[in-house]
Amino acid sequence: MCGIIGYVGKSNAVPVLLDGLRRLEYRGYDSSGLAVMNTGQPIQTRKREGRIENLRQLLQTSPVEGSCGLSHTRWATHGAPTDANAHPHLDRSGRLALVHNGVIENYLKIRNRLEAEGHVFLSQTDSEVLAHLIGKHYEARTDETPQQRLVGAVREALVQVAGTYGIVVMHTDAPDFLVGSRLGSPLVVGLGKGENFLASDVSAIVAHTSDAIYLRDRDLVCLTESDFKIETVDGGLANFEVSRVDFTPEQAEMGDFPHFMLKEIFEQPETVENVFRGRLVDEEASAKLGGLNLTPQQLRDVERIVLVGCGTASHAAMVGEYLIESLARIPTEVEIASEFRYRNSPLDKNTLIFVLSQSGETIDTLAALREGQRKGHPVLGIVNAVGSTIPRESDGGSYLHCGPEIGVAATKSFTSQVTMLALLGLLFGRMRHLSMAEGQEILREMRALPDKIRSILAQSEAIRQIALKYIDAPGMLFLGRQFNYPTALEGALKMKEISYIFASGHASAELKHGIIALVSEKLPSVFIAPKDSIYDKNVSNIEEVKARKGPVIVVTSEDATEMAEIADDTIYVPKTIECLNPILSVVPLQLLSYHFAVARGCDVDKPRNLAKSVTVE
Ligand code: M6R
Repeated sequence: MCGIIGYVGKSNAVPVLLDGLRRLEYRGYDSSGLAVMNTGQPIQTRKREGRIENLRQLLQTSPVEGSCGLSHTRWATHGAPTDANAHPHLDRSGRLALVHNGVIENYLKIRNRLEAEGHVFLSQTDSEVLAHLIGKHYEARTDETPQQRLVGAVREALVQVAGTYGIVVMHTDAPDFLVGSRLGSPLVVGLGKGENFLASDVSAIVAHTSDAIYLRDRDLVCLTESDFKIETVDGGLANFEVSRVDFTPEQAEMGDFPHFMLKEIFEQPETVENVFRGRLVDEEASAKLGGLNLTPQQLRDVERIVLVGCGTASHAAMVGEYLIESLARIPTEVEIASEFRYRNSPLDKNTLIFVLSQSGETIDTLAALREGQRKGHPVLGIVNAVGSTIPRESDGGSYLHCGPEIGVAATKSFTSQVTMLALLGLLFGRMRHLSMAEGQEILREMRALPDKIRSILAQSEAIRQIALKYIDAPGMLFLGRQFNYPTALEGALKMKEISYIFASGHASAELKHGIIALVSEKLPSVFIAPKDSIYDKNVSNIEEVKARKGPVIVVTSEDATEMAEIADDTIYVPKTIECLNPILSVVPLQLLSYHFAVARGCDVDKPRNLAKSVTVE
């Protein structure tokens, strides 16, 4: 939530900051702003409610220029999305500017104290309080260079705040100098030639440099155009390393697609293959996942698995529960991260915890990881964003390597997560009861997935026509069973988050226990009913809806031709084994919600009230 970028170098910072904001806009998009300065001149700020385009237009009519600057795209927590609440915020001298991502939980107490001392605040934000607090300590410090004063003031202020922060600060007295720090909110240093950067994530700076340092919690960085220094907030030694960014600027662009979401749906043949490439072991009909950091004996000793995630990642985890239990017979549970972190879930000895996260920054998932570790269990990460906080704090894990996912609605990360969980199920299964022949079948079917996904993508236009047919639907039900019960939940989440109609996902057989009361001629039901062991049961549930005049869209297998006579609309997907079916069946649901939302005029890449990476509780 919220994206920040800072620049110090020889060029004009404004185009760099604006381009960075454009690339970070998926992190928050209710207002944005920037501040720049040149040596000996005052800070100039520009802020605008709404999308970054509004800020860009403001800068055309009211340009600014400077070789050092910082900028911010906001997802409101404290105070409505207005020009005044947009970042950057200044201290009372107007000579210190700050951008902040996170939440200062004790801001009210500090604000009251500062107001009693004569500080006047211009916004309702917690962040402005931090700017004033740093400014106050700056004023109080003397006998130091301006750079030392600024660093010292940041340190003094940060020890007083409770909550989370990723901040960048600058002061006119210390030109061409930025200070950044983080606790709970991501911050990465980009090292350029004669210029350096700070940003919430590398997509903002990958056009300028591939050398990045992912800061750790309580790191503090001082940045000039030619140098950097990283210590901890309390002045101790910091551990850091320079990493190479693992994707190109082009991968973070839309290319010929009208939306990132559609691009990312269409990338799935390759992204699914990226998960299993190099990880399949034919001789053993198994999988290898080197990053787990567990010996074969430790893997054999696992008696229970807990899968933790939020939103789409929790739906992938639910597929994982079915997968691991059926392939490996290890009792597996899914915990929603925000619940797990606060409840006293009994974790037996030999319980292995996996946290799943596309961004690797979701605060609830990170907190669940820490809670699991606190209780003495190994916690492994299944993450997409390389270098993000979760993989750095976990005891091991595997990357998804599906490239930047920028559309707020998760698509390719879901199919990648399920593919990874299938590899885990295979690995654990082959160490236990799963036969060689069953293992070989999984390898064969996994390798066939990319082409099968391609054949579903080729139906995009036909799926669009179905979406148009139901364009006035007030809501939608999504129903599936077994492996595809989580697929139904995921289909419903996609539909509601980007089209704003009410949608809910259920296990098909639950219909009779209440949901069927909703069925009417106006409310379409989407069934995921591949030709599998429970196909006939699904057909009965479909008939129950049809008997009550409910329109039915069915996602089924190619050979279920009879479905055309039962359902109003049918989408066929190639056959595969049951445990891998969600990787195919979810794709038409992604396309259905995409086309539905576009036809209703919704901004699918930036749905209202949402942000891609949820770094506040
Ligand atoms: O980055 P994460 O995978 O941890 O994100 C988890 C959820 O916030 C995310 O899946 C969210 O539900 C998506 N908007 C769903 O499309």
